[in-house]
Amino acid sequence: YMNYRVPRTRKEIFETLIKGLQRLEYRGYDSAGVAIDGNNHEVKEKHIQLVKKKGKVKALDEELYKQDSMDLKVEFETHFGIAHTRWATHGVPSAVNSHPQRSDKGNEFVVIHNGIITNYKDLRKFLESKGYEFESETDTETIAKLIKYVFDNRETEDITFSTLVERVIQQLEGAFALVFKSIHYPGEAVATRRGSPLLIGVRSKYKLSTEQIPVLYRTCKFPKRDLNSAQQGNACDVCFPLPSSAIIEHTNRVIFLEDDDIAAVADGKLSIHRIKRSASDDPSRAIQTLQMELQQIMKGNFSAFMQKEIFEQPESVFNTMRGRVNFETNTVLLGGLKDHLKEIRRCRRLIVIGCGTSYHAAVATRQVLEELTELPVMVELASDFLDRNTPVFRDDVCFFISQSGETADTLLALRYCKDRGALTVGVTNTVGSSISRETDCGVHINAGPEIGVASTKAYTSQFISLVMFGLMMSEDRISLQSRRQEIIRGLKSLPELIKEVLLLDEKIHDLALELYTQRSLLVMGRGYNYATCLEGALKIKEITYMHSEGILAGELKHGPLALIDKQMPVIMVIMKDPCFAKCQNALQQVTARQGRPIILCSRDDTESSKFAYKTIELPHTVDCLQGILSVIPLQLLSFHLAVLRGYDVDFPRNLAKSVTVE
Ligand code: F6R
Repeated sequence: YMNYRVPRTRKEIFETLIKGLQRLEYRGYDSAGVAIDGNNHEVKEKHIQLVKKKGKVKALDEELYKQDSMDLKVEFETHFGIAHTRWATHGVPSAVNSHPQRSDKGNEFVVIHNGIITNYKDLRKFLESKGYEFESETDTETIAKLIKYVFDNRETEDITFSTLVERVIQQLEGAFALVFKSIHYPGEAVATRRGSPLLIGVRSKYKLSTEQIPVLYRTCKFPKRDLNSAQQGNACDVCFPLPSSAIIEHTNRVIFLEDDDIAAVADGKLSIHRIKRSASDDPSRAIQTLQMELQQIMKGNFSAFMQKEIFEQPESVFNTMRGRVNFETNTVLLGGLKDHLKEIRRCRRLIVIGCGTSYHAAVATRQVLEELTELPVMVELASDFLDRNTPVFRDDVCFFISQSGETADTLLALRYCKDRGALTVGVTNTVGSSISRETDCGVHINAGPEIGVASTKAYTSQFISLVMFGLMMSEDRISLQSRRQEIIRGLKSLPELIKEVLLLDEKIHDLALELYTQRSLLVMGRGYNYATCLEGALKIKEITYMHSEGILAGELKHGPLALIDKQMPVIMVIMKDPCFAKCQNALQQVTARQGRPIILCSRDDTESSKFAYKTIELPHTVDCLQGILSVIPLQLLSFHLAVLRGYDVDFPRNLAKSVTVE
C-alpha cells in the first residue's frame, strides 16, 4: 500500500494495512506480517520496520502497539507499506516463517510472496555456498536472499530496483506473486507475478493521463541501464492486493498484471515493464472498474460468513439464472458459450474437472449432462487427472469448475488440456481470475463473493450453471423437449423452494444438539444425490473436524455396512426419484443392523419415515435438481455442529479459501 504526498502517521499506515489484511484473512491465516518505510522533511528513514506474528491478524495488530521503538505519531509525507497473511506450505506457522521475508538482519530487501518456488532448494544451496545464512524454512526467503545477491554483484551503481527484480525472476521456477521493498530504494516498491494472480489498485487524486498504463518493453535480458520509470509513469496511489476484497474500500479501479510484468512504483509514479517476447504483446494494461460493493462482503446480521452465504442461496441461485433462462420461451442463453456452441456440439466427450466442492458440482450434474447432451461425460478431480496423464484430444471439451478461479490443480489441468488442443470452458465465480482468463470461453456463476472457507452458495450456483449448459445444448432435440420444460419449470421454482428449506434451520439446530458430541457421521445416498452425500460429508469434516464419509448406497453391502450399529449416526438421503426403491433396500439393511437412520426425504414420503429415527422433510422438485435442495440441510447441520463444538466456522484449521499451490 502506498500513499503519495498525503501525510499519514505511522499509526494510520498500520491501520490501513491491517484492515486490508483482515479482509484477506479468510484465504489463509496462520501468521501475518508488515513492513513499512516513510519519509518526511525531518525523518529521512532508510530503515524498514518489519513486524511479524504467528496467529491471526488481530495478534499482529496488538504486536504493532507493543513495539516501544516505534513512534506511532510520526508523520510521513511519502511511504510504502507491504503486508501479508500466510498459510503455511514450506515450514510451520511461526513469526520467522511468515512474510515479509528478509535478505538479512538489516532488512536490506524484504519480500512478500504468494505461490510456490519449485527450485528453491537449488537456489538455497547456491546462496548458502556464497555465505548467505537462512533463518526460516520457507521457499520465499530464497527470493529475498537472491535479490540481495544480485544487488551485491551488480555491475553498475545506478541499477534500478525493477532491473534487480527482473533478474531475480529469471532464476525462479514455479508460481509467484511478489512485492519487494528495499532500504536502497526508499519509498519504492516493485511487484511482479507468474502463475499467481496479482492486481494493482489505483486511486489517484490526479487525473491519470490515460486509462491505459503503457507497458515499457525491454528488448534484451540484462540491460545495463534501466528505463527511467519516474519520468514515464502515472502519478497515483497504489495497492497490490491479491483478491479484490482487500482494496475495495480504497478504490474499485484496478489493473490486472500479466505473467512476468514488473510493476514499479517510485516517487508516487507507477510504471510497468517487461521483456518483449513477441510482436503481438499487448502494449498496455487497462485500468478496469470492479463491480463489487463493500457491503457485499460484510457479514450483516449473521454470526459467520458461511451462515450468511447459506441463507443467501435463494438470491444467489436466482442471480445465476438471471437474464439467461427465459421461462416464457423455455430457452437458455449463456452468452459466454454461444459462439462456441457448434464446436461443443461436435465434440466427442465432455470432461468436467474441479477440486473439492467444485468437483462435487460436476458429480451432481453428470447424469443430467449425459441425458441432455447425449455425450459421454467424464468427471475428474484435477489432481488425479494430472497424476494419470489422462489422454485428452483436440475434439474434447474440458470444463474447469472453480469458485475462486485460482485453484492451482485446476489451473494446471486447464493448461494441460489447452496444450493438447481441447476446447476449454471456465465455470468460475471470480471475474478476471486466472481460470476465467485462460479458458477459451466460460460461464460466470454470479453467486457474489463467497468468503466463508467452506463453499456453499458457489456449489448450488455451479450446479445450476452446468444444468443451464445442458439445457442450452439440447435446445433443438425434439425428443427432449418435455424433459427440458420440466427442468426449466423446476429452475423457476427453486428460489422459493430454497426459502422453504431454510425454514428448517431450527429443526436442524435441534438435530445438531443431539449429534455434536459424536466422533463420526455417515451420509449415504445414490443416483442424483450421491454428490449431496459427498458434499455434505465434506462440509461436516472441514468445519466440525468430525470424521464424516459420503457413502454411495449401492456400495453399502460391499464394505461400509460393517460400520453400522446402534451408535453410529447415519444420515440417509432418500428422494422420490428413480433410485427410490434401491434406497429403500439400503434403508432395510441399515435398520436390520439396529442402525438408527436420520432420513432426508420428500414431504410426501410416508414409506421411509416409518423406519426413520428422525426425518427432515424437504419440498419436492425435479429429480435432477433435488440435490440443490437436499444439500442445504447438510450445510446448515455442519454449521450448527461447528458452532456447538466451539469452532471458528469461517476459519477452519489448516484450510484456506483459495488453494494456489499444488
Ligand atoms: C470446500 C471447499 C473446497 C473448494 C476447493 C476448490 O468447502 O471450499 O473443497 O471447493 O478447494 O476451490 P475452487 O472452487 O475455488 O477451485
